[in-house]
Amino acid sequence: MSDTLLQDVTDGIAVLTVNRPEALNAMNVALLQALDAALAALEGSDVRAAILTGTGKAFVAGADIAAMAEMSVADAQAFSVLGHRVARRLEEASFPTLAAVNGFALGGGCELALACDFIYASEKAKLGLPEVGLGVLPGWGGTQRLPRRVGVGHARELIFSGRVIDAAEAQRIGLVNAVFAPDALLDAARATAREIAAKGPCAVRATKRLLLEGPEQALTEANAAEVRAFGKLFGTADQREGMKAFLEKRAPRFEGR
Ligand code: HXC
Repeated sequence: MSDTLLQDVTDGIAVLTVNRPEALNAMNVALLQALDAALAALEGSDVRAAILTGTGKAFVAGADIAAMAEMSVADAQAFSVLGHRVARRLEEASFPTLAAVNGFALGGGCELALACDFIYASEKAKLGLPEVGLGVLPGWGGTQRLPRRVGVGHARELIFSGRVIDAAEAQRIGLVNAVFAPDALLDAARATAREIAAKGPCAVRATKRLLLEGPEQALTEANAAEVRAFGKLFGTADQREGMKAFLEKRAPRFEGR
């Protein structure tokens, strides 16, 4: 773990904190690589939910503009590929990922939040994709994930205008699920992560995959995948434990297998 990316894993819940407050947590290659490695290492561990957040007044104020300013076409594409890889790791993680947006989530920061399964925000959060104001575009998946999250109309308006919105507006358009007082944000994210962690891990994992892959499939194909996944869970110890615990009127003790 690097100084610029802090990690805490407690009771199966990982909290990854981008810690470069002097640059409002702007992401450079080293930080992206650290996040990539941290997420890779969590795969296959007993982590059941992860929270991504930032230190200070920013979640992530974007990709590092100073690092990008002199990039060649090839450098820029490689930087885009790296950010996409990290975003995809968040999206495809075998456990739910939650963005706790404590402050500025701009450009690449908003794009990383969008790659998480859902977003909670502080009342102080500001979100947006202001890249066109720099003469570039959202290059870590924003042009694709924002419309999928909030609909094409809101996405086009936000991306073309580069407008930055507050947490209340972000909640109104469905970009963030819920808004909390700054001091309550992380506790709220942890509380939801704990709820998730208490559920059957095989079931949550399978559900996440269906939710991710379904929109890329025809409805009949996606429904067939759901049928297969539902049936497959009956080959897990989690299913037997979950139903047995219900019938015995006790809390389940899931093992994730
Ligand atoms: C590099 C950044 C930065 C960034 C802030 N800083 N954002 N450095 N890259 N994205 C640095 C500032 O240069 C400054 O450093 C310090 O952080 C504090 O920022 P201030 O601007 O002084 O703070 P404030 O006045 O509060 O303004 C906050 C802000 C503003 C509104 C968030 O910093 C801002 O507009 N930042 C850029 C946001 C943005 O355009 N993001 C999109 C980037 S493009 P010094 O050394 O002066 O103290 C992108 C592309 C993704 O993300 C896809 C790539 C493929």
